[in-house]
Amino acid sequence: MALSGDNTLRVFLFLAMVVCAAHAAKEAPKGKDEKKDDSAAAPGPSGGGGSSDISELGAKGDGKTDCTKALNEAWTAACGKEGAQTLTIPKGDYLTGPLNFTGPCKGSVTIQLDGNLLGTTDLKAYKTNWIEIQHVDNLVITGKGTIDGQGKQVWDSNKCAQKYDCKILPNSLVLDYVNNGTVSGITLLNSKFFHMNVFQCKGITIKDVTVTAPGDSPNTDGIHMGDSSKVTITDTTIGVGDDCISIGPGSTEINITGVTCGPGHGISIGSLGRYKDEKDVTDVNVKDCTLKKSTNGVRIKSYEDAASTLTCSKVHYENIAMEDVANPIIIDMKYCPNKICTKNGASKVTIKDVTYKNVTGTSSTPEAVSLLCSEKLPCTGVTMDNVKVEFKGTNNKTMAVCNNAKGSATGCLKELACI
Ligand SMILES: *[C@@H]1O[C@H](CO)[C@@H](O)[C@H](O)[C@H]1NC(C)=O
Ligand SMILES: *[C@@H]1O[C@H](CO)[C@@H](O)[C@H](O)[C@H]1NC(C)=O
Ligand SMILES: *[C@@H]1O[C@H](CO)[C@@H](O)[C@H](O)[C@H]1NC(C)=O
Ligand SMILES: *[C@@H]1O[C@H](CO)[C@@H](O)[C@H](O)[C@H]1NC(C)=O
Ligand SMILES: *[C@@H]1O[C@H](CO)[C@@H](O)[C@H](O)[C@H]1NC(C)=O
Repeated sequence: MALSGDNTLRVFLFLAMVVCAAHAAKEAPKGKDEKKDDSAAAPGPSGGGGSSDISELGAKGDGKTDCTKALNEAWTAACGKEGAQTLTIPKGDYLTGPLNFTGPCKGSVTIQLDGNLLGTTDLKAYKTNWIEIQHVDNLVITGKGTIDGQGKQVWDSNKCAQKYDCKILPNSLVLDYVNNGTVSGITLLNSKFFHMNVFQCKGITIKDVTVTAPGDSPNTDGIHMGDSSKVTITDTTIGVGDDCISIGPGSTEINITGVTCGPGHGISIGSLGRYKDEKDVTDVNVKDCTLKKSTNGVRIKSYEDAASTLTCSKVHYENIAMEDVANPIIIDMKYCPNKICTKNGASKVTIKDVTYKNVTGTSSTPEAVSLLCSEKLPCTGVTMDNVKVEFKGTNNKTMAVCNNAKGSATGCLKELACI
């Protein structure tokens, strides 16, 4: 590629800045590395800081050149500098292998995603995940770009429906040990496994994000979280082949508002109880959400032969619109996908204080409400207020199935008031 005069100058300024920053980082007190970087495509959030643009580190947005090295270098540069730093991914298609964005960083990093990242379909290139961001505080990922897992070409090699100890394909965007992070504006497309996985994080906001994969793609959950607190998902549209959102063990203070889900398996808490030492799930609010043609609406699922003892409590669903959903409201304490568990009735997962308020719309199967709790550990404190979901078919009628669920119902469709 021939450099224009302007680009040569930009590269020079960039290199000069890296050298300056390396000196500044040693000598300047924290937060004082405020050198104005004229080569920055976008200023840092505070107006100061600096920028690492991958196109200045050898990345080519032709969809064919392997840009892994340029991206990892851009991260190392941005993460290694104090102040507000921006890692810029300009318009274009950038093919990459695994990206290891590990902190802690000296300043705060914004990943400005204007282009599209394409995850290589060569599975041998990955150790575990694709884009893995770990131990970073005050992270921002924003822009109108796309994180494209190119999963179509590898979904056939997912054998998790046949085999318990299956090989897990790479998740697309993984946040581990991230405190105070925001992901906004971007699109996550056709991940190989989960689109986004949030683990051991605190204070994460996901806003105006679009997640898209075919309804029959395997294990392409939209956003999964576990062992995390204060996670907010808002104004986000998700259509995938598995759970739109799954809230795993150890999730607390979770707010989900303005989410549209479908196709997919719904907004789920769980699975709970599959592994040892799982932690409680508490304070989950799901509000102003729409589920369209999904297999479940709002679901809580736990294993009957749970490997750990835990409680799921203080779950509140409000203003939920169902459109043609197979199981709009479901608590399934006998969850057992692919028949991998023993049905011994010895549940160790407690489910209590779950409220459903103003849940309306249509279901595609007669059972609009299924509260399938265990004989040994009934669900308690379940309240239904203004739950009006009707079977839209003509060959049967709307019904509820409630086993071992204790609580109260007010203002509901009379067929659904089973507690
Ligand atoms: C990721 O980067 C960190 C820090 O540079 C390093 O310690 C770690 O070994 C890397 N992980 C992988 C999987 O390459
Ligand atoms: C995260 O944000 C909260 C609230 O603004 C603040 O109290 C906390 O110190 C921040 N944590 C980090 C690691 O920056
Ligand atoms: C979640 O929403 C509740 C109720 O609106 C609010 O009190 C709480 O602060 C929110 N939590 C977070 C982490 O945003
Ligand atoms: C019930 O929820 C729907 C959205 O599903 C909303 O449009 C409506 O205003 C809510 N009703 C009340 C009384 O809050
Ligand atoms: C109505 O639906 C219920 C629950 O799915 C089913 O058990 C029953 O057989 C159906 N009745 C008819 C007439 O199809």
